[in-house]
Amino acid sequence: SANASPTGMQPTATYDSPFLKACRREPVPHTPVWFMRQAGRSLPEYRKVREGIPMLESCTRPELVTEITLQPVRRHGVDAAIYYSDIVVPLKAIGLDLDIKPGVGPVVAEPVRTRADLARLRDLTPEDVSYVTEAIGLLTRELGSTPLIGFAGAPFTLASYLVEGGPSRTYENAKAMMYGDPELWADLLDRLADITAAFLKVQIEAGASAVQLFDSWAGALAPADYRRSVMSASAKVFDAVAGYGVPRIHFGVGTGELLGLMGEAGADVVGVDWRVPLDEAARRVGPGKALQGNLDPTVLFSTPQAVEAKVREVLDAAAGLEGHVFNLGHGVMPTTDPDALTRLTEYVHTQTAR
Ligand code: CP3
Repeated sequence: SANASPTGMQPTATYDSPFLKACRREPVPHTPVWFMRQAGRSLPEYRKVREGIPMLESCTRPELVTEITLQPVRRHGVDAAIYYSDIVVPLKAIGLDLDIKPGVGPVVAEPVRTRADLARLRDLTPEDVSYVTEAIGLLTRELGSTPLIGFAGAPFTLASYLVEGGPSRTYENAKAMMYGDPELWADLLDRLADITAAFLKVQIEAGASAVQLFDSWAGALAPADYRRSVMSASAKVFDAVAGYGVPRIHFGVGTGELLGLMGEAGADVVGVDWRVPLDEAARRVGPGKALQGNLDPTVLFSTPQAVEAKVREVLDAAAGLEGHVFNLGHGVMPTTDPDALTRLTEYVHTQTAR
């Protein structure tokens, strides 16, 4: 195993990479860059290797996972790889009947709505996801000093798919349970926290150097509800992996009002979408945490000059931060020109070279 630690479990070159240094708020030779959804449909080489293979099946093939994870690292020269998988993979691995429908997202055959339904959420064991251990072993050998980010969906975002049965704009069924049956809701999130923690541990023990908890849809919640009904489950996940010493990143969309709480939940790095400038985000998060973000992904559809101007805005807002990991404010959109991402990576590297 190759966990980050000054005691030498992880190769020094990886431990000393700009990405991991920025996460630890140490000085860096340049601001590190990676992109959420950097692997995926924006890349023709991804579309080619995925041809005829369903999304969730692709996640169980170690050689394919390795190739897809490496593609954006090779092409863009980003400072970190993110493990190619999906937030619903651990739920599929414990036997839930779900699929990812192209153009739609995760769809659950039988939504989780009652106490009896909770019995379907059994614990995740490393054997359930042996392909993850195998793929990360292959990947860390290929990546050299480039760190690998493991990830999982946070309990709220996973619950939103399980209770709704699929993607939602309003989360009315999930919120109905949260407000109407708080005990069932708490038990559901606690089950998901255990599954998520187990999934992250598998990734770290196999060699992931950082982890990101995606609470993509937490921005649908008012801060009081987040604090009362969600935060402790995410905190349980972060606590469970604290002992490994790998940076823990926490990200959601539209979470401007939640940034402080998401940091408090146990993150070392707080991901910020494009709606809150990073200097203001730093005030909301408080000291002792790095920030990740936050270029609006739609900016990449504009001219190279416009992209550079918007990148300068992000870098200027980040100038006073102790640790900054450059990213988009949400995932790469599938129709993005990959060359725009390569140029963006180079531009951030040259603009921040110290
Ligand atoms: O490069 C990377 O970022 C790693 C890969 C990754 C995927 N899913 C692969 C994927 C990551 C980090 C995820 C996380 C994920 N999955 C999240 C959190 C990130 C976010 O966007 O906020 C969420 C909410 C999901 C659920 C999900 N899976 C959605 C909404 C979709 C899109 C459905 C569609 O077709 O529009 C997926 C499918 C998915 N996950 C794809 C990829 C590459 C596209 C499927 C395909 O290529 O056929």
